[in-house]
Amino acid sequence: MVTTSGRADASRRGTRRASISDVAQQAGVSLGTVSNVLNRPDRVSEATRDRVQRAIEQLSFVPNGSARTLRAGTLTTVGAVLLDIANPFFTEVARGIEDRLGQDDHTLMLASSDEDPVREHRYLRLFEEHGVLGVLVTPAEAEIDHLLALQRRGVQVVLLDRRSPSPAIASVAVDDVAGASMAVTHLLGLGHRRIGFINGPSTIEQCVDRRAGMLRALTTAGLDASAMVEVEVPFLNADGGEAGATELLALDDRPTALFCVNDLTALGAMRTLRAHGLRIPQDVAVVGYDDVNFASMLTTPLTSVRQPTHELGRTAADLLLRAANGLAEEPAHVEFQPELVVRASSVGADGGGTA
Ligand code: RIB
Repeated sequence: MVTTSGRADASRRGTRRASISDVAQQAGVSLGTVSNVLNRPDRVSEATRDRVQRAIEQLSFVPNGSARTLRAGTLTTVGAVLLDIANPFFTEVARGIEDRLGQDDHTLMLASSDEDPVREHRYLRLFEEHGVLGVLVTPAEAEIDHLLALQRRGVQVVLLDRRSPSPAIASVAVDDVAGASMAVTHLLGLGHRRIGFINGPSTIEQCVDRRAGMLRALTTAGLDASAMVEVEVPFLNADGGEAGATELLALDDRPTALFCVNDLTALGAMRTLRAHGLRIPQDVAVVGYDDVNFASMLTTPLTSVRQPTHELGRTAADLLLRAANGLAEEPAHVEFQPELVVRASSVGADGGGTA
């Protein structure tokens, strides 16, 4: 229904008074933006303020308790559904989110989906019912239709640690194809030609991209996929790393190096290698991904692909606040470049480490 004055909307609403949601829908902005026009107009662009004010007049909206409730603080809260907040990668990302939100007196509500789409959807619904300003999500599945629908209902969405498949949803990610390619090129340069890859489920885009990066490195070196010995583990944690390494060590022709999908799986894999009496890197070289805070502190410091974790979180929160306040013309898509940090787990204490 296209209305010019809002009169048609009134007939649709019957006698119900216009709500802040009606204003948001009429103006084509999020609930948070309407709340900010009412309570913090300085945070909203003039064009957006005008659009919201026009909708308020068209709908004869009168701020009431719900507006005060919104002022009370729910719309100064941002929800984040990450894969696993026990993973130091996500806790470091969450710190970046919190530091940016705090600059605008906003608060963060944090949840783990545990790579379970059902759990993710449940937390998103809870955050929406709580009336959050927006949500940051590391999706547990490739499909994001539910996030597009959430944003159409007025909840700002930003994808975190995931490139957006849709121009309609902002995203902040790291080039995982480049990151994995760096890691495997490093191992190939050390002479390894049979590299184990402990990867996570293909429902997680980061795992898909890191596999693509490994294959890119092999192709660039003139090798085919047979140089990659891949095992898929259900969870991107130390238990997954142990299970993956155990499977690879059981092979007759075991790999001479392991590329692990993240540092937690690398930690578990290293524990298994040692339990089998294998030396790192002399018997098996290991490379992780994230370069979380413990990577450099291990007995054999871990070679890893560094992601700008704090900046990832800070930038995602900034994109969300700018979009919610009508300060972003189009959803932004930011992609950071990773860097390889070489340590003893691949080159040894003496920097040798050849296969
Ligand atoms: O987000 C999926 C994975 O990417 C996480 O396990 C984290 O470690 C990052 O590397």
